[in-house]
Amino acid sequence: MAEPIFAFQPIGVIHTPFARAAGTPIQARATRERGHIDIRPAYAEGLTDLEGFSHVYLLYVLDRMDKGALKVTPFLDGKEHGVFATRSPKRPNPIGLSIVQLLTIEGTRLTFEGADMLDGTPLLDIKPYVPDFDHFQPTRIGWYEHRLRKDECVLADDRFERKP
Ligand SMILES: C[S@@+](CC[C@H](N)C(=O)[O-])C[C@H]1O[C@@H](n2cnc3c(N)ncnc32)[C@H](O)[C@@H]1O
Repeated sequence: MAEPIFAFQPIGVIHTPFARAAGTPIQARATRERGHIDIRPAYAEGLTDLEGFSHVYLLYVLDRMDKGALKVTPFLDGKEHGVFATRSPKRPNPIGLSIVQLLTIEGTRLTFEGADMLDGTPLLDIKPYVPDFDHFQPTRIGWYEHRLRKDECVLADDRFERKP
């Protein structure tokens, strides 16, 4: 039997100052860069009560990435790892996940801090960050414990960028 294929329509578009992958922050928590999201009017009602949450998950399509590799060398390490042990943007299903700080909601426009995605990134979903659900004290963090770069805000290079 054929594997099922799931199709999703974006609920909005994320706008950020970043036109290309190289130079974009690699994680939302490490940057104060701002972005905004324009939610499609058909989904406006779904924003009701979202302003009560300071942080939200954004789930989006890494739409300018070729599907990829099961082994990758992440930005913060010099060694290859299985893609599922990394947050590499190049992955079999190019889905990105960022927890950002929600600043304002004006109509269908959300502004946020913590932009680590490219301008025009299609947004699939928003979920509130709830510490009781989402905050853990991990007992191991794999290769990341010995990561190469410990500076606060690491910017991406072009290692995963689609070549023209
Ligand atoms: C390391 S990934 C992490 C993304 C997300 N925070 C996550 O963990 O899934 C962030 C990098 O993905 C790349 N990127 C962001 N938006 C993209 C898009 N729409 N298409 C392709 N690459 C993108 C940029 O190079 C950015 O620095």
